Formats: sequence, C-alpha cells, structure tokens
Amino acid sequence: MRHHNILNSKHEFLKKKISNINNIQILELGVAQGNSTKIFLEICDLNNGNLISVDIIDCSQVSNNSRWEFIKASDDEFDIINPKIKKPLDILFIDSLHEPNHVKKVFFNYYKFLKVGGICIIDDVSWLPYVVNKKKENSYVAMTNYNTFNKVLEIYNSNIENFSLEFFFEGSGYAVITKKENFKLLEEKKVIFKKKTFKNFVKNFYLKLPKK
Ligand SMILES: C[S@@+](CC[C@H](N)C(=O)[O-])C[C@H]1O[C@@H](n2cnc3c(N)ncnc32)[C@H](O)[C@@H]1O
Repeated sequence: MRHHNILNSKHEFLKKKISNINNIQILELGVAQGNSTKIFLEICDLNNGNLISVDIIDCSQVSNNSRWEFIKASDDEFDIINPKIKKPLDILFIDSLHEPNHVKKVFFNYYKFLKVGGICIIDDVSWLPYVVNKKKENSYVAMTNYNTFNKVLEIYNSNIENFSLEFFFEGSGYAVITKKENFKLLEEKKVIFKKKTFKNFVKNFYLKLPKK
C-alpha cells in the first residue's frame, strides 16, 4: 500500500509537470512494463502530442497508440536514434541503465534536442529508501542512486548558466533539469569546498561544548 502511494506521488508529480504543454513532444529512455509510457501517452492524447520510447528489449506490445513510436535499441546507439527525433523535445525522460556515466552519456547527447524551457527528468536519484534498516535496504541500489545524484550535481556545477536543477525526493526520486539557454553543455566539475578552515574549526569547537 505504502509502495503504491509513493509510486502515485511520483506519477502525480510527473503528470503535473507536463500536463499543460500543448503539442507535447517526449523522448523516453527505458520502457519495461510501460508504467511511465502509459502516463506519457495519456498526456499525448489530451495535448495532441507524440512520444518516442527506446528500450533494449522489445516493449512494442505496451501500446498500439498511433501517437507512439517504439525503437528497440540501446539508448546510446545515437546513429539509429538521433535521426528519428524530428521535432524539438519538450520532455526527455531518462530511466534506462542506472549507471552514472551512462546517464551522463545519454543526457549529453539528447540535451541538444530539448527546447529552451524543455525539461529533462532523470529517474532514481534518491538513495534514502535503500539505506541500512529501511525496508528496501539494498546497498548496491543506494550506491548507484547516490552516485547518479552526485553526477547530476557535478554536471550542474559547471552548467549553472545553462539549466536549472530541482530534486524531488519522494520514493526513488527525480532530478528535474529545465533548459534555460541553448549553450553547449560543459563537462562536469567536482563539487569541492575546504572543510578544514580555521573558521570551521572554531565553529565545530563551540558546537561540541556542553550546553548550559
Ligand atoms: C526501470 S525500467 C524502466 C521503467 C519505466 N520507465 C517505468 O517507469 O515503468 C528500465 C528499462 O531500461 C531498459 N534498458 C536498460 N539498459 C538500456 C539501454 N542501454 N538502452 C535502452 N534501454 C535500456 C531495460 O530493458 C528496462 O526495461
């Protein structure tokens, strides 16, 4: 039941983000059983839109909606997929191989197809449901999602002029990237600040004093 509610709140968030875009053009990476695909098609029906979805396995039976084009390929087979994107995108949804460098690779390729004002949503960036003593404890998934979160932050760190970034932390979370300018993306930059400064030392010292 709880799982159901969390899923719904992620889906509600997704629907709200996209429901007022007319003639919406969506590219989805990762279909599986088609939960997100069906949400996107519902919006396409309402808003006269089109959806292209990519999966490495054959998911073509998920829908026979004429607004849908399914491409069976790995989403980094750019020579196959890029020519099929004929219109600028309103939405890029990344939910395929959850590996930070893969997410970066596909984001950097498909970002150029996004309109200014267009949104890229990256699924599974929260590690909180998978940490020690949580019902879904899974250190592998926790680590993967944590690394994806940090990768997105590092990309943002060098592209602050390019896009805005929000995180939604219900369930397994979303990163929501809104394109501001048509600049070329810059390579990610580590997020570094000095922890062992004199001021920080003094602050920590006072914080550790017993309270009266
Ligand atoms: C988490 S599922 C997608 C779930 C779906 N978006 C939803 O919300 O219901 C991930 C899917 O990505 C596919 N996949 C994995 N690696 C891929 C790749 N390199 N290119 C395209 N699809 C991939 C898998 O076959 C799987 O169906």
